[in-house]
Amino acid sequence: MVDGEKGCKPFHRPVLLKEAVDLLAPKKGGIYLDGTAGGGGHSEEILRRIIPTGKLIAIDIDPYAIKILKERLLPYKEYCKIVHGNFASFENYLEGDFFLDGALLDLGVSTEQILSTERGCSFRFHAPLNMRMDCSDSFISAWTVVNTYALEDLVRIFEEYGEERFGRKIAEEIVRRRRRKPIEYADELAEIVAKFYKGRRRIHPATKVFQAIRIEVNGEIENLKVFLGKIPYFIKRNGRIVIISFHSIEDRIVKSQFRAWEYYGWGKRIFGKPITPSPEEISENPRARSAKMRAFEFYGRNG
Ligand SMILES: C[S@@+](CC[C@H](N)C(=O)[O-])C[C@H]1O[C@@H](n2cnc3c(N)ncnc32)[C@H](O)[C@@H]1O
Repeated sequence: MVDGEKGCKPFHRPVLLKEAVDLLAPKKGGIYLDGTAGGGGHSEEILRRIIPTGKLIAIDIDPYAIKILKERLLPYKEYCKIVHGNFASFENYLEGDFFLDGALLDLGVSTEQILSTERGCSFRFHAPLNMRMDCSDSFISAWTVVNTYALEDLVRIFEEYGEERFGRKIAEEIVRRRRRKPIEYADELAEIVAKFYKGRRRIHPATKVFQAIRIEVNGEIENLKVFLGKIPYFIKRNGRIVIISFHSIEDRIVKSQFRAWEYYGWGKRIFGKPITPSPEEISENPRARSAKMRAFEFYGRNG
């Protein structure tokens, strides 16, 4: 069981809630996709604006999130289809609603996932190295990455996904340690990373390495690329997609994809620069600090 599962109360605070839904501009009767529905904050706001005639397809890869969503969105159940799945395969869940009026992705992890000891996503806990968002045994876990990946693969992940300046040194230390015995726990890994940092820091020294491993375990970059490759074929005329990312690699991918679509005349970026949370939002919810939001409107070949 995941911590906090009992009672299923969402405590994830949606980032850029009003701004994201305003940008998506949902209209009554429209069909929308929330590909990362999580605790349902954005989903609920979209639903409030599209009922009584619209429909929302709410996807999440995490079965615990699905449980929360079903409870939270119960009052809207006639207008909402909740799917346990991967947004990279969103087209499989559209059924009759083949074309969408808009889609939202709020990437990354939820507060519940970070604070769940079972996931081992946080360096603060003595928890097994897992980090799988979908909780299934079918994907690699953080344990597999840490204990079986070749040195050069670890270096690549830490440097590329974590932008970790001690990536090579940390990878070498992991490989040295695991020769004696596998690295089993999140706090054990955090301690290895922390050795390379001296003095106090604003964020925990293991933040970047944990983020990098989580991105690898869940195929987060690949999922985003697959989604972007398909979504233009499923959005109606003047339909929008809105993407909130928390990692510079993801933001770069979104930015260059939007530019390419604009170049090909498929539509327009709503803003050239990303929208970021206000200082007030960041002070109330520090998790929002790295959020960047971009939006694109398709001129429309569909619907
Ligand atoms: C930042 S949270 C979203 C929070 C949500 N917008 C809200 O208002 O509560 C990100 C969510 O995306 C989900 N997620 C991540 N990758 C996914 C994928 N490939 N397919 C579906 N859901 C995914 C995670 O399980 C997590 O619940």
